[in-house]
Amino acid sequence: MPSILAIVCVALAVVYGTLYTVLHATQSKSEPRLIPTAIPFLDSAVGIARHKVDYLVSLKRRYGLPIHTLRMPFQRIYVINAPQLIQVVQNKSNLATFVPTLLDFGMLFSGLSRRSKDTLTKAYGSHGNGFTKSVHKHLASGSDLHAATRTAVEKLTVGIRYSFVDQEQVGLYETLRHQLCQALTGAIYGAENPYDDPAVEASWLEFVPGISHLLYSPFPWLTAHKALKARARVIKAFQNYFETGGHTQAFAMIPEMFNTNANHGLPSSEAAKLEMATSLAMLSSGAISAFWLMFHIASEPDALRACREELLNLVVKEADTQSGKVKVVDLSNIKTQCSTLTAMWHETLRYHSTVINIKKVQHDTTLASEYFLKKGAIVMIPGSIVHHNTNTWGPSASDFDHKRFFTPAGRRNLSNTTAYRPFGAGTTMCPGRHFSTSVVLSLVAMTLLQFDVQPVEGQWQMPTKTNADMWNAMPKPDQDVPVRISRRVDEESTHTEWKFVWGDASGKKE
Ligand code: HEM
Ligand SMILES: *[C@@H]1O[C@H](CO)[C@@H](O)[C@H](O)[C@H]1NC(C)=O
Ligand SMILES: *[C@@H]1O[C@H](CO)[C@@H](O)[C@H](O)[C@H]1NC(C)=O
Ligand SMILES: *[C@@H]1O[C@H](CO)[C@@H](O)[C@H](O)[C@H]1NC(C)=O
Repeated sequence: MPSILAIVCVALAVVYGTLYTVLHATQSKSEPRLIPTAIPFLDSAVGIARHKVDYLVSLKRRYGLPIHTLRMPFQRIYVINAPQLIQVVQNKSNLATFVPTLLDFGMLFSGLSRRSKDTLTKAYGSHGNGFTKSVHKHLASGSDLHAATRTAVEKLTVGIRYSFVDQEQVGLYETLRHQLCQALTGAIYGAENPYDDPAVEASWLEFVPGISHLLYSPFPWLTAHKALKARARVIKAFQNYFETGGHTQAFAMIPEMFNTNANHGLPSSEAAKLEMATSLAMLSSGAISAFWLMFHIASEPDALRACREELLNLVVKEADTQSGKVKVVDLSNIKTQCSTLTAMWHETLRYHSTVINIKKVQHDTTLASEYFLKKGAIVMIPGSIVHHNTNTWGPSASDFDHKRFFTPAGRRNLSNTTAYRPFGAGTTMCPGRHFSTSVVLSLVAMTLLQFDVQPVEGQWQMPTKTNADMWNAMPKPDQDVPVRISRRVDEESTHTEWKFVWGDASGKKE
């Protein structure tokens, strides 16, 4: 026995010595500093797998470096924390040096066949899979965005009317998630929306935990077996949707993507898989953001009062009826008329965002005349570090301040994508940001005007978010918060029937 133990010890020492030597021999002195490591190559991988974004935050706290190197098996990562360096990476003159890797993301978890990937690569080259292009074209601005938002608002009105039951006890996240799912997918997929089938929505939810396995596990078919079966059911529903012409009744973006890809030779069974990327964009961060926003408003009496008061600015028509009043609310003015609600939306994104921008270094380069970066390495910019930087945000950077973005001076930081980046930055900046912002704010507005939301526990308790997926731009709460939703009974609301619209029918406003 002792001799076996000795052999094992010697073997471990040799492995350790070898790894240590390899690590330091392959790390150039002029590269960003290497974080001290206990087990070369492995402790960073384990740290990220276990603590995700928090691992990067803890390194920043401990070492305070503007940029540092993490070595993983077969991959070097430069983590950038300092705004000055982020600015350089994002400078237009460096567009060809630091290339976003997000374009391939949809291909990684949608289950596309090798052949379809080749087809898409040939068709779109470095422009991803055509999906991102269509969203940029249709949802970033203009009359299509207006039309999609209007439909989503109609869906929310009906959804809330029929599914928010007075005095019912529900999970806050689950309730908002379901409403947004119906509104966003209804607006985009049209009358034959596959997510109208509760079984498809349930299958989607069963698939989501599998995404991390598809991205990071060597054997996803083993470790995410159930999730992959659930994905197959969603894909089947979309295949049926395309084959029965459901897309012909959808938002312009969907038939356009389908027809373009069909012309490139993609069969409907494969086009259905691409909708996993569209679905993920629509169904992940928006609902999580809505949850945190609602949590912060409902749990801060001052903020709640201010939000409700401002929402009355949106009433565009009032009429008396036999049983009381009808008030028509034009939600398209929400961003200009409701400063507290809008400020809290931005603060919710700043405070909670876990977004990490990832770019690949295309050739050896020297960043800011100081840091040598090697070709093939990954550059990571963790949004949560930037968003809690006290040089930018002052000593209250780590507090949730519902007034932070209330004043014009406070809002100035919002247009600076070095300082504020919940939707990313540059050419790949989230094209769904206006759509999701409008629809989430509408959902919250409709809820606040018509209902009281109270914690079942009696007191609001902020849930933890340590298990949140690293690929997500926003962290899902670890547990849902049980709430009771009841109709408001104060003077303003009793006997008032609220109607909600999004701008006038001409499509002028956005
Ligand atoms: C609050 C909700 C949302 C958040 C926080 C969010 C956040 C993000 C972030 C951080 C990125 C990466 C940007 C970059 O790396 O530069 C992104 C990309 C993207 N998002 Fe969103 N998003 C949201 C909602 C949506 C919605 C509703 C849609 C579509 C309907 C959408 C469509 C997209 C697309 C297509 C991309 C890829 C853009 C490209 O690579 O060119 N997002 N989003
Ligand atoms: C971007 O890079 C160019 C060329 O190196 C430089 O002249 C310019 O000042 C940079 N802009 C910013 C905002 O850093
Ligand atoms: C944007 O924010 C960064 C970080 O706070 C700051 O260094 C930079 O000067 C700002 N840029 C502009 C144009 O205000
Ligand atoms: C960002 O906000 C802080 C605190 O309000 C302010 O001191 C700073 O000047 C702002 N930065 C920009 C670029 O507006």
